[in-house]
Amino acid sequence: MKLRMVIADEKDDLDRALKIRSEVFVKEQGVPSHLDHDADDDTSIHLLAYADKELIGTGRLTWVPHSGWQLARIAVIKPYRGLGIGRMIIENLEAIALSKKANRVFLRPHKHLQPFYEKLGYRLMNGEVIRIQNLELVIMEKHLN
Ligand SMILES: CC(C)(COP(=O)(O)OP(=O)(O)OC[C@H]1O[C@@H](n2cnc3c(N)ncnc32)[C@H](O)[C@@H]1OP(=O)(O)O)[C@@H](O)C(=O)NCCC(=O)NCCS
Repeated sequence: MKLRMVIADEKDDLDRALKIRSEVFVKEQGVPSHLDHDADDDTSIHLLAYADKELIGTGRLTWVPHSGWQLARIAVIKPYRGLGIGRMIIENLEAIALSKKANRVFLRPHKHLQPFYEKLGYRLMNGEVIRIQNLELVIMEKHLN
């Protein structure tokens, strides 16, 4: 299996990323699609992960005024989880942020994924738990250098 990370550079690429997110966030987790596909999609850098020719994961990096660079929508389709793909997506997004002269990135993951992100060097910014519909989110950050 040959793994590739591709930065989206055409309209179809965003549609492809949205298909993965629809499968993972909307169908699997019950997130309303309008919360998944938001206005930040237009201004974000989207990353697509391929195993050979199959699209298996995605993630995005967004400049948020007054807050900095945000990672979001990290998703790997079920059959490919636990193989290091999520880590690769995050590390690639961090490398893109570094290339933009970022020294820090942040994200708002599901609370239950805090241990996953801690493993990748992220720390809670505060103890705040954000509740959006049935979701519980925390805010985490990582200093890149
Ligand atoms: C979260 C997600 C992206 C992780 O992707 P993945 O490819 O399965 O993760 P990886 O294989 O890269 O795991 C990296 C490390 O984190 C660990 N890990 C993976 N999922 C974990 C979890 N839920 N809790 C704690 N640790 C976890 C792995 O064991 C691995 O540890 P190791 O390096 O010691 O072996 C994937 O499970 C997913 O798409 N989930 C659904 C969508 C979602 O909720 N996304 C997050 C939005 S905030």
